[in-house]
Amino acid sequence: MILQADGLRKFYGEFCALDGVSLGVDAGEFVSIIGPNGAGKSTLINILTGITRPSAGTVRFKDREVGGIGPVRLARLGMARSFQLVQIFPDLTVLETLQAAVVARLGRGTRLFASLAGDHEVQEGALEVAELFGLGDQRHMPARHLPQGDKKLLDVASAFALKPEIILLDEPTSGVSTADKTAIMETLVAASKRIGLRAIIQVEHDMDIVFAYSDRIIALHQGKVLADAAPAAILSDQRVIDAVIGRRARAS
Ligand SMILES: Nc1ncnc2c1ncn2[C@@H]1O[C@H](COP(=O)(O)OP(=O)(O)OP(=O)(O)O)[C@@H](O)[C@H]1O
Ligand SMILES: [Mg+2]
Repeated sequence: MILQADGLRKFYGEFCALDGVSLGVDAGEFVSIIGPNGAGKSTLINILTGITRPSAGTVRFKDREVGGIGPVRLARLGMARSFQLVQIFPDLTVLETLQAAVVARLGRGTRLFASLAGDHEVQEGALEVAELFGLGDQRHMPARHLPQGDKKLLDVASAFALKPEIILLDEPTSGVSTADKTAIMETLVAASKRIGLRAIIQVEHDMDIVFAYSDRIIALHQGKVLADAAPAAILSDQRVIDAVIGRRARAS
């Protein structure tokens, strides 16, 4: 197991958002986390990536307990993420956004942009990721002018710029058209092969995308794991269809 969580619980005051969630991800897997709004998907991703502390339970990454070490140190260990809401800085260009991510990876945060122009390694790294994600032509465009699909792509590309071993994506294709969703996923899968990514974990509402790309699907419902199985088994699990898939199909 490259990533393993055991007995995760999360309380917000009295409210229990995660209620004993355990899961494991092996090297080579593409795992999707599905569930209705409020099921606890983002809370789970936030705990796995060190942004939120669990009320109870443990997270192990590469056989090391990582609970509470925080997203910056986790990124150094090889775990990166993107967010449900696009995190780009609107006034930075595509290239500057990726340079910021490369700077973060190289641990040059204190100097940030002071010496970027002359930093060959940062320049090259950012350009390489821009091209990997098909954003080379737009590299001088301010991020806010990008179409929504490219904004999402830039957000994912920023996570890739950290050269992670595993990546966690919270709704990488939300808010874009069906055609753009597929384009984003194809780019992501191709890029992950190129950099030798060891695992992808995504939260996704679009069932066409989920079933097209996942090796395994984890269905969350009211803070609990309702099912954790291969796509074919998920499709024949009536509880998942009733609680998750049917409802999502109507909502989307
Ligand atoms: N910081 C917080 N304080 C209080 N309650 C929270 C907080 N964050 C999340 N919650 C609650 O915890 C539950 C799970 O939220 P979460 O964001 O993890 O759901 P989700 O599955 O990602 O939903 P969506 O599909 O809408 O993104 C929800 O009921 C939410 O209102
Ligand atoms: Mg969410």
